[in-house]
Amino acid sequence: MSGAPVAPHPGPAQNSPATQAETIFEARGVNLRFGGVHALTDVSFGIRKGELFSIIGPNGAGKTSMVNCISGRYRPTDGRVYFKGRDVTGMTPNHRAALGIGRTFQNLALFGHMTVLDNIMVGRHHLLKNNFLTGPLYWLTGARKEELAHRREVEEIIDFLEIQHVRKATAGTLSYGLRKRVELARAIALKPDLILLDEPMAGMNLEEKEDMARYIVDLNEEFGMTVVMIEHDMGVVMDISHRVMVLEFGKKIAEGRPEEVLADPRVRRAYLGEDDDEEAPAAPAAVVPPRKEVA
Ligand SMILES: Nc1ncnc2c1ncn2[C@@H]1O[C@H](COP(=O)(O)OP(=O)(O)OP(=O)(O)O)[C@@H](O)[C@H]1O
Ligand SMILES: [Mg+2]
Repeated sequence: MSGAPVAPHPGPAQNSPATQAETIFEARGVNLRFGGVHALTDVSFGIRKGELFSIIGPNGAGKTSMVNCISGRYRPTDGRVYFKGRDVTGMTPNHRAALGIGRTFQNLALFGHMTVLDNIMVGRHHLLKNNFLTGPLYWLTGARKEELAHRREVEEIIDFLEIQHVRKATAGTLSYGLRKRVELARAIALKPDLILLDEPMAGMNLEEKEDMARYIVDLNEEFGMTVVMIEHDMGVVMDISHRVMVLEFGKKIAEGRPEEVLADPRVRRAYLGEDDDEEAPAAPAAVVPPRKEVA
């Protein structure tokens, strides 16, 4: 399970179309240092198209750092990252967003003074063909039609996440759980192929967590988005992930199906704080039904 990468590691020029279709994202030998802090050390892994892939590990293990290397917020000190077969290591977050990488943040990043609707619309800016230059030609350039279609899609996302009742509310006045949902709506509005969710359920009660888990599963299965999720709740992780990668002190210590990872002695020792001779923990109670396999 750990060790062998998901896809073979040929140079980018030798990437076959089949490999590209299978692996939507790949990290090769990623290192990230902040002065003397080694946030990530030689991390390699691949994410298959259509997969719900979770990254777990103790606090400070490098999970957010890894997600930042995927989104482009951080550039690896060493190593390369590939998205849809392209080397995106040097690309800005905006460039990567335009290629199809969307994200939410561990700490909420909504515009508190704006309405829910406006917060979600912000996420779609780069999808609009018309801008402030064509703005004066609003009625002539098709900008109006485009805006209507745009609003319709936003309304669909609002329906999907069941936030119709707060669409006109100021984001800053909402409960924590609802704000997390709005943030997800904004990330979905970008229509990403790969969505990065950094602790989407942090601070939620059980009911809110169950709802969020279902939205994430639906997003993956119905919208067809590939999902990378960082989550501390092992029950949710084990329930909804196709595969899990475990980081500890910036290093990958395991990768595989949830049940494989859960049974791995290194994971039990490092992450669950168990001794070698203890029994493997039973799988946590199901929050949502087991996932379908990704080919
Ligand atoms: N911008 C930064 N500047 C300096 N050090 C950083 C920075 N970002 C992360 N680090 C350090 O890198 C290491 C990994 O941090 P990271 O935030 O990736 O961990 P994490 O696994 O997401 O933890 P948590 O579960 O607490 O969110 C930590 O030692 C952290 O202090
Ligand atoms: Mg983090």
